[in-house]
Amino acid sequence: MKNISLFIFFLFSTITFSQNLQSPDKQLELTVGVNKIGRPYYSLNYKTKPVLQTSFLGVILKNANTLAAEFEILKTSFSTVNESWKPVLGEQKEIQNQYNQLIVELFQKSTKRKMNIVFKLFNEGLAFRYEFPAQPEMNYFVITDEVTQFALTSNHKAFWIPGDYDSQEYVYNETKLSQVDVSKLDMNNGIGMKGPMANSRIQSPVMMKSTDGLYINIFEAAVVNYPIMHLDLDTTTFLMQSHLVPNAIGDKAYLQAPANSPWRTIMVSDDARKILASKMTLNLNEPSKIEDTSWIKPMKYVGIWWEMHVGKATWDYAGSQNAQMAQDAELKPTGKHGATTENTKRYIDFAAKHGFDGVLVEGWNIGWEDWFGNWKENVFDFVTAYPDFNVEEVQKYAESKGVKMIMHHETSGSVANYERRLDRAFSFMKKHNYNAVKSGYVGKIIPRGEWHDGQTMVNHFNWVVERAAEYKIMVNSHESSRPTGVHRTYPNYIAAEAARGNEFNAWSNGNPPMHETILPFTRFLGGPMDYTPGIFEIKMNHYDATKKEQVHTTLAKQLALYVTIYSPLQMAADLPENYERYPDAFQFIKDVEVDWDETKIMEAEPGDYLTIARKTKGKESWFLGAITDENARNTEITLDFLTPGKKYKATIYQDGKDAHWEKNPKAYSIKTVEVTAKTKLKLNLAAGGGTAISFIPLN
Ligand code: NOJ
Ligand code: CA
Repeated sequence: MKNISLFIFFLFSTITFSQNLQSPDKQLELTVGVNKIGRPYYSLNYKTKPVLQTSFLGVILKNANTLAAEFEILKTSFSTVNESWKPVLGEQKEIQNQYNQLIVELFQKSTKRKMNIVFKLFNEGLAFRYEFPAQPEMNYFVITDEVTQFALTSNHKAFWIPGDYDSQEYVYNETKLSQVDVSKLDMNNGIGMKGPMANSRIQSPVMMKSTDGLYINIFEAAVVNYPIMHLDLDTTTFLMQSHLVPNAIGDKAYLQAPANSPWRTIMVSDDARKILASKMTLNLNEPSKIEDTSWIKPMKYVGIWWEMHVGKATWDYAGSQNAQMAQDAELKPTGKHGATTENTKRYIDFAAKHGFDGVLVEGWNIGWEDWFGNWKENVFDFVTAYPDFNVEEVQKYAESKGVKMIMHHETSGSVANYERRLDRAFSFMKKHNYNAVKSGYVGKIIPRGEWHDGQTMVNHFNWVVERAAEYKIMVNSHESSRPTGVHRTYPNYIAAEAARGNEFNAWSNGNPPMHETILPFTRFLGGPMDYTPGIFEIKMNHYDATKKEQVHTTLAKQLALYVTIYSPLQMAADLPENYERYPDAFQFIKDVEVDWDETKIMEAEPGDYLTIARKTKGKESWFLGAITDENARNTEITLDFLTPGKKYKATIYQDGKDAHWEKNPKAYSIKTVEVTAKTKLKLNLAAGGGTAISFIPLN
């Protein structure tokens, strides 16, 4: 249903000038202007409170005048949009796209260059981007910097990670802006890839809270043919400025007009729930370019994966010291190889028995003896299996059990190699009936000198997804740049990692209990994450008495994560034998859905807690997840999201009375009650705990 109303009027002016725009609900007010020396600027108020003070705008070009000053305004035009659209997979079946728009057309007399800045003011925030209309002066141009400012008004609390060009796999720091100091971070906390960093450079999205209760988030949307934007923070004035990730020779972006930057977004609300409910990022991306989307399906999966992370099995077949032997195919098995035909069949049986859609197998192909740390170009070919993994046999077995196999392509950062082999790799997948791939980019990038977050790599990640769509393949990328809503355009981009996932709990200091309460306010704003929840054996001393590592949640919280984390691709990450020991708790993972008609953010505070309820796509059942940080939490919720008059069977999976993420993480209890939309439920969450509930209609 489209209902677009357009009111356009033009205003001609060549003098110093400013213009205002309000959000549809009139709570946000934007001021845009050009100052005496022709610098474009903007400022933003929320309910009359300043959110951003005068912040300058512009880009710097290579070997040319900058596009940051000496501008005059040629024309401004206003329009308003209110429409809705349906995502292929999502948190809700319909998404409203409502905003007021202001286009400011700028002209630089001395160079005859034109640049437009397009502002879209939604109820939940502001988005703007630079547009470079087709013009002979900018047929081909190089951006060496973007000087977009976000002049924050005071010393807000911020949830931030360092502006590493190569990785987002960090724990979030919760400090005042004045205390941002990358040099004080523990860099030995399980992080394999570290690109260049600077002391007060942080990544976007950054989530902030002002002392007077405003939630502010700075991010970007639709990063296409452009590098990722990090933020340089002045820790005394609280001014943030865009820092684009460079390429191997220090340039930022190569463009050809007509072209545009990604959208820069500033979300603002005095209600944290509205930040999570916002669909601004998706609305700023282009509609689906895939016409027939019938093959894009949500997926719950298991896999030969956690057993490698906990050290029970290996990815490699011959042991990592035997790299040369592996190359010579004189492979002597270590006896711990995880990806065997036999083990895969065990997982296929398990998936079939418990209703999972797919099985992922890592370590199936040659190369793992020598995959990491050598910055080597030609490690994997993506088509040659180890001798103990029979692709045909696995294919036949999976088909006979109605289970889909998920391919694994670890590139070890050698993008050059992957691109050369991609079509063969995808053809091999189709031949063997794989319709989804998990890709990985651990290690430094080849072509050498490029970073994970530079323009070249952004183009690579988007190109792989586009190419995959031609083969009707879904993509789940790990160690890619963090998503910015591009999965609206390519819905086969079913999930990405691009943040610190559950895996870190297996082999590092792990993710503190507040981690999963921050991710929705940061990484998840850009798209679904393959976080891999569902770990029941919380402590790694289960595998080896000397191990101290552990998952930093209770078992019940691992269940709740299936609801609080939105992803149409969710893994049941623990080992089959561990699930078999807790069949009653495992039932929730079997029942929970991954694609939704409706989502209700019931309670939310970044870094503290989160309660979300979601209605199953096309069905009357609901699921609820509530999580807390290191503090225990008691709350009461009303089930008013349920259909009035209907009765439901609620199965409540909660922390045991003395549960605690560290001292007693596996204590849980399960009870069943009959509820209606009028029922009030008390939830008692342990320290680092959670509650998961399924609601099945009875009438
Ligand atoms: C890191 C990924 O996040 C993980 O899921 C995978 O198992 C390893 N790389 C190996 O590819
Ligand atoms: Ca990873």
